Amino acid sequence: MTNALLKTEKLCKTFSNGGVQQHVLKNLDITLIEGDFTIIMGSSGSGKSTLLYALSGMDKPTLGTIHFGAKNISELNNDKLAKFRRNNCGFVFQQVHLLDNMSILDNVLASGMLSSQSKRTLVDKAKKLLKQVGLNEESWRKFPSQLSGGEAQRAGIVRALINDPKIVFADEPTGALNSASSDSVLDVLTKVNNNGQSIVMVTHDMKTAMRGNRILYLHDGVMRGDLNLGAYDPSRNAQRLERLKGFLTEMGW
Ligand SMILES: Nc1ncnc2c1ncn2[C@@H]1O[C@H](COP(=O)(O)OP(=O)(O)OP(=O)(O)O)[C@@H](O)[C@H]1O
Ligand SMILES: [Mg+2]
Repeated sequence: MTNALLKTEKLCKTFSNGGVQQHVLKNLDITLIEGDFTIIMGSSGSGKSTLLYALSGMDKPTLGTIHFGAKNISELNNDKLAKFRRNNCGFVFQQVHLLDNMSILDNVLASGMLSSQSKRTLVDKAKKLLKQVGLNEESWRKFPSQLSGGEAQRAGIVRALINDPKIVFADEPTGALNSASSDSVLDVLTKVNNNGQSIVMVTHDMKTAMRGNRILYLHDGVMRGDLNLGAYDPSRNAQRLERLKGFLTEMGW
């Protein structure tokens, strides 16, 4: 049984640049499935980030609808949309943007303060999650500038997870990292997904895309392809990589 998590109908996003209309997302009908690790690929400027912002309620579509379960989130006013995001979504970006004047632990706690969790619950959960991503007590007390890029990104993932989101949206989360740090961050995201949380991740990188079980290919604001890659399984990586390569070649990547 597969359950729809997010469903768009005729989703459009148009920007007006100096009086010129740019149609960035064009009539997208997408159904994201609960528990999936969905990857969005496509060339630069194809609309991937714009799509991620629309799906996550960070930005409103110009036309069309987005349903989260039975709720039409495209109809919500800004306050309700912010509440929807707080209760259901986590965000991981290429640049982590932790607050410089706060410790790592406080950065995570700050993101949890707007939820209804008690301080005690939050602190316990933050510490547990930080440990799970391989950040020890010594790191909790550090300031963001004292962490490596990979450590900071793992802290960023904990910040995204503190309110138990149903979906984690990630826009090129490993784009600024070296290969080893990138692997450590992807391992964390794989664990998050194995825990049952859905992930939607934009990437330009094939190795990163291999973490997903479904690849959507966006071309000039239109969904050109949709590949069911099967769940991430390092023992079948060679086969999956061949399938992904074949798909991307077909897509004109
Ligand atoms: N706020 C905005 N105002 C005007 N135009 C925008 C805005 N956001 C995005 N665009 C335009 O929409 C198009 C798609 O941008 P988007 O950031 O979604 O691309 P992308 O696929 O994420 O690219 P990249 O791989 O380079 O990150 C671009 O031409 C961009 O200039
Ligand atoms: Mg982008």
